[in-house]
Amino acid sequence: MKIQAIRGVKDILPNEIEKWQWVENTAHTVFARYGFKEIRPPVFEKTQLFSRGIGETTDIVEKEMYTFEDRSGEKVTLRPEGTASVVRAFIEHKMYAAQALLKLYYLGPMFRYERPQAGRFRQFYQIGVEAMGSHNPAVDTEVMIMLMDFFQTLGLIRLKLQLNSLGCSKCRPEYREVLRNSIRRHLSDLCDNCNQRYEKNPLRVLDCKVERDQEIATKLPKTADHLCSECKSHFSEVQSLLDSTNIPYDLNHQLVRGLDYYTHTTFEVTSAELGAQNAICGGGRYNMLVEEFEGPPTPCFGFALGLERLISVVPFDKIGKTGKCPDVFVLCLGEEAQRHGFQLVHKLRTDGFFVERDYDGGSMKSQMRKANKLACRFALIVGENEMKSGKYQLKDMSDGGQVEIPAETCVEEIKKQLKKTV
Ligand code: HAM
Repeated sequence: MKIQAIRGVKDILPNEIEKWQWVENTAHTVFARYGFKEIRPPVFEKTQLFSRGIGETTDIVEKEMYTFEDRSGEKVTLRPEGTASVVRAFIEHKMYAAQALLKLYYLGPMFRYERPQAGRFRQFYQIGVEAMGSHNPAVDTEVMIMLMDFFQTLGLIRLKLQLNSLGCSKCRPEYREVLRNSIRRHLSDLCDNCNQRYEKNPLRVLDCKVERDQEIATKLPKTADHLCSECKSHFSEVQSLLDSTNIPYDLNHQLVRGLDYYTHTTFEVTSAELGAQNAICGGGRYNMLVEEFEGPPTPCFGFALGLERLISVVPFDKIGKTGKCPDVFVLCLGEEAQRHGFQLVHKLRTDGFFVERDYDGGSMKSQMRKANKLACRFALIVGENEMKSGKYQLKDMSDGGQVEIPAETCVEEIKKQLKKTV
């Protein structure tokens, strides 16, 4: 029986990997400019970390986690997201001792047992960012600015930044009550799911995807109208700082997010080019999570973006080829030249060139065809005559021009020729 990949997971094949690497490298470069450092937590953790961290009544914890018992009977879960792991590591390694704002980011696979569809996978990749240790609204704004800077570097336009505030432990309970009372009046018109969750998690009714429910949601009380004075001033400062940078955004009173740890600012970035799963990125402030795991009071702000969705909308055709093509194709004719070519390829590679060759010992014509197919910049031809004379033929694959170069100084010569063409 042929074994195939599991439903909802996919291979990232070599012909796509250049895009992935380019996007990932751009993240490393942009985030480093803002002082963020990478952290690599494990891909599985104790189940409790996620059930407590993300919230028992969330969809993720209720029905989407890959949980199993390991051989010692311990309940472990493949991480459905990265924030809880970073918080665990932050406390475990006493990273708070540094006192300054800790700026971290991570990149890697996440696992959620969701119904697979376009843009929704059971293993998907996220790049996540967590700024830990400040309640300053400038942190919320700076992190969102960094995200938009990253998107801009990738050539992305037509993205929509949506913003909301979910209040804090002081004002949220009262808002939840007001909301629950209001929802109760609409129960017969709302979907089964909302009927089930309005008691435990009434905020989720606000972002139900059922069309009829969405219409009702617009009439329900808004968090913005029930914020305490501290939340109100935090949110208005975030907006005014964003205004000062001219980054456009919309207020979305239905934006509540699917994880329970959020307080204050929440946000999402969506793309009009994606279908139903149009959220590229989501995040917000989570001021209580570190304390909930018995760490010191540490207000945090972060986000995570879905790499599959992001990569599907990056305009690679407009921003040019991100993948590098080989500098040189070493074309060897004859058995002895093949042996000589082996050393030559090695020498050129250790000198920093991207080198390809033919491993089948084909004719000049078939090797040229391969060099062309790989879009090599130059072909370096080594045959019997070349070995006798100590001179190689260097052929420019873009215009067919050919020059003779001495074997001893071929590295310098090729470098010179490459420079001419940059
Ligand atoms: P999230 O909204 O659950 O937030 O996920 C962030 C992003 O991951 C989504 O906007 C989406 O692009 C991508 N994503 C989520 N599920 C899937 C899936 N099944 N298939 C493909 N892509 C998916 C979080 O994970 C939070 N930890 C973000 C955060 C960090 N908040 C504060 N810090």
